[in-house]
Amino acid sequence: MARKPIIAGNWKMNNNKAQAKELMDGILYGISQLDASKMPEVVVAPTYTALWQVYDLIKNEPKVKLAAQNVNPNPKGAYTGEVSLDMLNDFKVKYVIIGHSERRQMFAESDEFINQKALAILSEGLIPIICCGETLEQREAGVTDEHLKNQITKAFNNISASDAKKSVIAYEPIWAIGTGKSCDAKEANRTIGQIRKVIADLYNQETADNIRILYGGSVKPSTIVEQMAQPEIDGGLIGGASLIAESFIDLIKGAMTDEHAVV
Ligand code: 13P
Repeated sequence: MARKPIIAGNWKMNNNKAQAKELMDGILYGISQLDASKMPEVVVAPTYTALWQVYDLIKNEPKVKLAAQNVNPNPKGAYTGEVSLDMLNDFKVKYVIIGHSERRQMFAESDEFINQKALAILSEGLIPIICCGETLEQREAGVTDEHLKNQITKAFNNISASDAKKSVIAYEPIWAIGTGKSCDAKEANRTIGQIRKVIADLYNQETADNIRILYGGSVKPSTIVEQMAQPEIDGGLIGGASLIAESFIDLIKGAMTDEHAVV
């Protein structure tokens, strides 16, 4: 059974209105030159302020899906500065990134809060991209697999097998984010295999075989082909290299190879 690869650009806190339009125009032109039948699912995650514009630019382009970088799990009310799922639905947002290490570290988001978000996202029919990843200290101490098991187990608390199956996980080792130092592809493959095993243990093998698990952390056009050749890696969640249209298109091309393993 094939898992459709995903190439997702996490723009983080980049791109004002004009820059978002320029980047999207470049991406849309690049995509128009590609063989649609071989393309991965392409996802862009602009800032909230650029969502409306990107939505408008891609509304006639089914090959590009919209993601939000965050959401508040409450339906509405006194949550200054927050955005609800109902608001994201205005822009046909399909995915929501949650549990990113930047939000865990800088905004003190707990595993429990991430789980609340995942449950809310799935109950509204959207799909969470649930991030997990270890620090350099954890990797050096040999506790990576245990840490990821803990993050995944808590993130999936009370999520049904049918919802888990359609969710997406992004394995993003924190030491590889924005450092230019990507995790070795084989080691990323091994670690993602371990995450898949956690899902098999929490649910069943079918769920584990269906769930898509991306790698993130200094993914570049020069690394993507080797990464996509790994059987466990179902795509990339990309920061820096998603901010330049040519480089994002090269990442999409790197995920078009027919060699990408199919379970
Ligand atoms: P970089 O690709 O810039 O390392 O960022 C990865 C990331 O955090 C994507 O969510």
